[in-house]
Order: sequence, then structure tokens, then C-alpha cells
Amino acid sequence: MVNELVQDFIKQFGDGGDIRKYFAPGRVNLIGEHTDYNGGHVFPCALTIGTYAIARKRNDRKMRFFSKNFSHLGIVERTLDHLINEKKGGWTNYPVGVAWAFTEKGYPIESGFDMLLFGNIPNGSGLSSSASVEVVTGVMLRDLFGFDQVTMQDIALFGQYSENNFNGVNCGIMDQFSIAMGKKDHAIFLDCSDLSYTYAPLVLKDAKIVIASSNKKRGLGDSKYNERRAECEEALRELQTKLDIKSLGDLTEEEFEANRTLIKSEVRQRRAKHAVYENQRTLKAVEVLTAGNLEEFGKLMNASHVSLRDDYEVTGKELDTLVEAAWEQEGVIGSRMTGAGFGGCTVSIVRNDAVDSFINNVGKKYLEKIGYAADFYVVEIGDGGRVL
Ligand code: GLA
Repeated sequence: MVNELVQDFIKQFGDGGDIRKYFAPGRVNLIGEHTDYNGGHVFPCALTIGTYAIARKRNDRKMRFFSKNFSHLGIVERTLDHLINEKKGGWTNYPVGVAWAFTEKGYPIESGFDMLLFGNIPNGSGLSSSASVEVVTGVMLRDLFGFDQVTMQDIALFGQYSENNFNGVNCGIMDQFSIAMGKKDHAIFLDCSDLSYTYAPLVLKDAKIVIASSNKKRGLGDSKYNERRAECEEALRELQTKLDIKSLGDLTEEEFEANRTLIKSEVRQRRAKHAVYENQRTLKAVEVLTAGNLEEFGKLMNASHVSLRDDYEVTGKELDTLVEAAWEQEGVIGSRMTGAGFGGCTVSIVRNDAVDSFINNVGKKYLEKIGYAADFYVVEIGDGGRVL
């Protein structure tokens, strides 16, 4: 596939020079949803599907982009002299945003480049296609321009910085971090309050991770993501009138319950409750998984979905239909929405011998109720962003 992409690159941008190849995965979060920006823990892993980039430096100030996923747009040209978000730039605002972030952080990009991208993550599916583009761009800029002091964690942070400040989505660090730092067959147990992390081997014995895409498209920018974040910040401020805490992730369930009436709105109480309980669930989930208790891990995944549905209210009819149909299936260890919500994907752990019937039955129920089909992917856990 990569060689084919190099041929495509040559077709678009011409032959010659030092053509280089890069990859960054998509990610799936197993548990710990909407906890990252609340100073809590997450437990994501990198996938083997993701974004490929083929690139070559130029001698002028032009950045020229071609995406095989948006080939009808042809080559989109931008310039290093105007590193600003342009509506008409469409998807190229992601790589341009990363070039801007490098510059802001003290790593100015000295010359332009040609870049061809191809992603095999379904766009807008909630598997972080945009963070994948950000990280692959970061890996490329570091390599092309010799920024050896930039670490993979820096690349994750620059990606988040560009998403927050260039593309206007107030996302946390989970996506970029897991995509930059992923490790084959491992999930990352990340404390988002200080970015300390460990890798946990993902031993699923006779089970597989199945992702179901609702095919309800979602862009973080036009979703209620920023609104949820603001609600949590407000709830934190209300709690801080009495408690000495830095984030909702600092609280146990008991501490929260004893102080919840400091939060003046019922809605904000539920938002904060989710953030606190989900963080505690994530700590428990990693503990039981490490002890080999997959059944208990599955139950915590299910409880996570209920909390996201009822308290955080980010699921919606499509994701609820997929998850509730999954719960009715034999051989399903756990199932929940993954990512920001409001559409996108669910993640389920399904016993090997039940995978086919799972896909069949959940697919049928979804089609009947929603009116269009879901897509299913049995996924593997892969490494983070890299030079190929
Ligand atoms: C999106 C954001 C992440 C995280 C999740 C919800 O994927 O980019 O930072 O907040 O939603 O857990």
C-alpha cells in the first residue's frame, strides 16, 4: 500500500528528491470518557488503521496538500507566510494548524513541502481521524526539518494545541497522546492531570475488540463538546468555593456526594457526577483487567455507557441502539460508546465465537430502528505514530 501511495505522490507532485513516508494510527478508548479535560484518567489504545503521509521538502514557502480521501479537491495550496485558519482550506487546516503550532512553540518551519495523505479510518467516526492527521504531520515536520529535540509527547501536545487554538475545538489530550504514544497489544493508562502513564498489556484471551460505526457523522466543532467542557468547568468553580481541588478528577465518589449541592444546577451536578464516577471507574477497570478479570472490566464498560447516556447526555439514539443491542447478545463482555459521542462509534469486547452473530444481529437491529446500516470493524491494537 505504501509503495502505491508513493506512486500517487509522484503522479501529483512529480518525481525526484527525498520522498519520505509516515504513519499515525487512529485510536479507540476502552474506558475513561470525557475525563481527560477534567484532570482524570483514560485508557485508550492505538489501532493498526490510521493515516499515511508521503512528503518531500520544497525550496519555496508553499505547502501543497493532496488527500486521497478528498481527491475531488485536487491539490490544495497554502503558504507558510499566512499560517491562519482559512475556511476554504477545509481539511488542510489540520496539517497547517500543526505547522503553525510548531512555529508558535519555537520550531519555525524553514521551507514548504508537498504532502499526500491517505487515511483508512472512517472520517468523523469518532476514531480520531483528525488527531491522526495532526500526529502524522508532527512526525513528518520533526523528521523533514530535523527537530530532534521534539519528543513524541511534544508532538501530541502540539497537535492538541493546534486543535484548541487553530481549529477551535477545546479537546483534551487523550487522542493525540494515545496516537503518538501507542504500543502494539497494549492500552495506555494515562493520568491526564500530569501526563504520567503506564502501558497495560491487553490480554483478551478468547475475545476481540469490535468497533461499530453508527455512520452518524459528527464534527467535534459543531457538537456539544465545548458546551460539556464549559459545564464541567463551571461545576468545578462551584465546588472550589469550599473544596481545595484542582480538577474533578481529584474527587472520590464519596467526596463528590458530600459536596454536590455546592453545584447550583441539577444538570451541572450530573455532568460533574459523570466526570468523577467515570474517573473512579477507569481506575477500577485497569485494576480488574490487570488482575485478569475481563468480566468485571466489561461491567465497568457498560456502566460507563449508562453514565454517558443518562448523566453526561452525549450518546443519542444511534449509539444507544448499538450498545443496547450489543448488551442483548450472547458472548458480549462489555459495550459502550467511545470518543466524544453524539454519533461516531461504539466499542465492544466480544468472545471470538460470538463475533459473527454479534455483527449480524446488532447490524440488523440497528438497520431496523435507525433506517441505515452500521459498519463493523474487528480491530487490532498497534503502535503509535512513526517514520516508515
Ligand atoms: C474527544 C476529545 C478527547 C476526549 C474525548 C472524550 O475524542 O478529542 O480529548 O475528551 O472526546 O473522552
